[in-house]
Amino acid sequence: MLLAHLSDFHLFADRPETSLVRLDVEAACRRVVADVVALSPAVDVCVITGDLTDGGSAADYRLFMDVISPIKAAVFVIPGNHDRRGTLREAFSGVLPFASDSELFYEVRLRGLRLLALDTLIEGNPVGRLSPEQLSWLEARLAVPVEELTLVLMHHPAFPSAILPLDRISLLEGRERFREIVGNYKGTLRIHAGHIHRPFQTMWNGIPCYVAGSPAFQHELTLDPAAPEPGPVAEPYAYFLHKMDGPRTVSVHARYVSL
Ligand SMILES: [Fe+2]
Repeated sequence: MLLAHLSDFHLFADRPETSLVRLDVEAACRRVVADVVALSPAVDVCVITGDLTDGGSAADYRLFMDVISPIKAAVFVIPGNHDRRGTLREAFSGVLPFASDSELFYEVRLRGLRLLALDTLIEGNPVGRLSPEQLSWLEARLAVPVEELTLVLMHHPAFPSAILPLDRISLLEGRERFREIVGNYKGTLRIHAGHIHRPFQTMWNGIPCYVAGSPAFQHELTLDPAAPEPGPVAEPYAYFLHKMDGPRTVSVHARYVSL
C-alpha cells in the first residue's frame, strides 16, 4: 500500500489571496501531480492536507479538481485556513462521506487503512480549532481500537514544529482534548498535517506525525525562538511517500520534484 501525502496547493483561478504564493502555482502543482501519477508501483491513496485553494471560490475548486484529475488513486482532502467550507463541500459532494452538515470531517476505511479526516478551519482566521462536536465524534471513533492503521488528517498541526511563530498560528482551540483522545487510543495511529509549508516529521505524545511541504511556497527553517516569522526560501520541493506494510510497519521516503 503506497500513500502520497501532499499539502497546501493554494491554487487560485483569478488572483492569489496570499502574497507569498508563487504566481505559477498551477504549473507547479501540475508538475507535482504528474510526478505522483508517474510513480511505479502506482500510488494507492493520496491525501492532501488542506489549503487546497488560496481563496476558496467555486472557480478555485474547479481548478483544483482539474489539477488533481490525472490521479487515478483514491484522493482524500481536508480544509485548510484558506479554504471555504461551502465551496469545498460542493466540489466533493458525493465523493467524500462528510459526517456533519456543518463541518467537513469524515471517516473512510480502505485497503488496511482507516482515515479520520478532521476540519480545523475557522473561516477568515489563520489559526486552527477543533469543535467540541468534532472532538466527541473523534473520541467515539477511537474508543475501540481497530486492526487497521489509523491516519488522522488535520490541516493545523496539534504538535509543535519548533518554528515558534508558526506554532503560534497552529491548532489552538481543542488542542488539549485532542491530545488526550489520541493519546488514549490503544491501536496504531499516525497524524498527517500541513499548514507549516515545510516538510518535517516529529514524535508527539508518542505518535509519529508528518507535515507535507507546499508547492506554493516554502518557509525558511528558523528554530531560534527569538526569530521573527520566517520568510519564503528557495529550496528543493519534496513530498512524502509512505509505504505501508501492515498496521505496524511504514517506510517513509522524500520524493523530490523540480518546480
Ligand atoms: Fe498553507
